[in-house]
Amino acid sequence: MIADVEMPVLECAVHWAVPSDEPHMRDLLDAGERDRYARFMRDEDKARFVTGRFLARTVLSEATGLPPGDIRFTTDCPHCGASHGKPRLPGHTLDFSLSHSADRVVLVLTDGPEVGVDVEQESDRDVDRLGEMVLSAPERDVLAALPADQRKRGFHAYWCRKEALLKATGHGLAAPMTAIHVSGPDEPAEVLSWDDDKAVSPVRLADLTPGPGYAASLAVLTDRPLKISEAGLTY
Ligand SMILES: CC(C)(COP(=O)(O)OP(=O)(O)OC[C@H]1O[C@@H](n2cnc3c(N)ncnc32)[C@H](O)[C@@H]1OP(=O)(O)O)[C@@H](O)C(=O)NCCC(=O)NCCS
Repeated sequence: MIADVEMPVLECAVHWAVPSDEPHMRDLLDAGERDRYARFMRDEDKARFVTGRFLARTVLSEATGLPPGDIRFTTDCPHCGASHGKPRLPGHTLDFSLSHSADRVVLVLTDGPEVGVDVEQESDRDVDRLGEMVLSAPERDVLAALPADQRKRGFHAYWCRKEALLKATGHGLAAPMTAIHVSGPDEPAEVLSWDDDKAVSPVRLADLTPGPGYAASLAVLTDRPLKISEAGLTY
């Protein structure tokens, strides 16, 4: 008889922050990050960027023992090699992902498997038009069947699940979202199918709790059950 092998849970530490822009946060940016900070036109974009990198350095410092000021990220793009890809901490096995939208900044850390996170403010975008670019045909049917006042929430739930997955792989929006088919907004988050040469398996998806008016999800390239802890926001 073959005994059931229980897979160990994978801890996913989710850290939330509200954007701010303080001198002690800017002091930790490296030269490339300072250039990028300076190029943002809007103060709110500067704050989201500096808060994300500060959160990453604070959390990674605690996880690795490195002083926050010594932490340098690589951001090599898998498509063209330029430095606008997924930030990584070279020389360490842990993985992390950052996202920001309006008044939310979020970071997720795992001890190994690739992770992606996405948070989106539920804006008044034209969800029918965007649905053509983002959703598979069955997903568009599910969205169309939702009551009118639920469709914005439904669309953003789909969006976040898919973008989290594409951030875990590092492809970002360079890969087609319509090729990914995920469960409906009112069902537990999971990838049902992925019809693309960029598809990966296994994948775990989960929705997060960003508070009213936002959607957020994470994706991890693992088959281990996830144990998610969220800190930094209380709702
Ligand atoms: C990554 C991407 C999905 C982010 O979209 P967004 O909704 O605007 O932003 P989010 O706030 O959710 O995430 C931004 C963060 O994701 C991270 N990120 C950037 N590129 C990433 C990638 N390829 N994969 C995973 N994470 C990425 C960064 O931490 C970034 O924030 P920061 O630079 O302030 O630290 C989008 O910028 C994208 O698709 N980029 C890649 C496009 C590409 O590769 N084109 C081909 C170029 S040759």
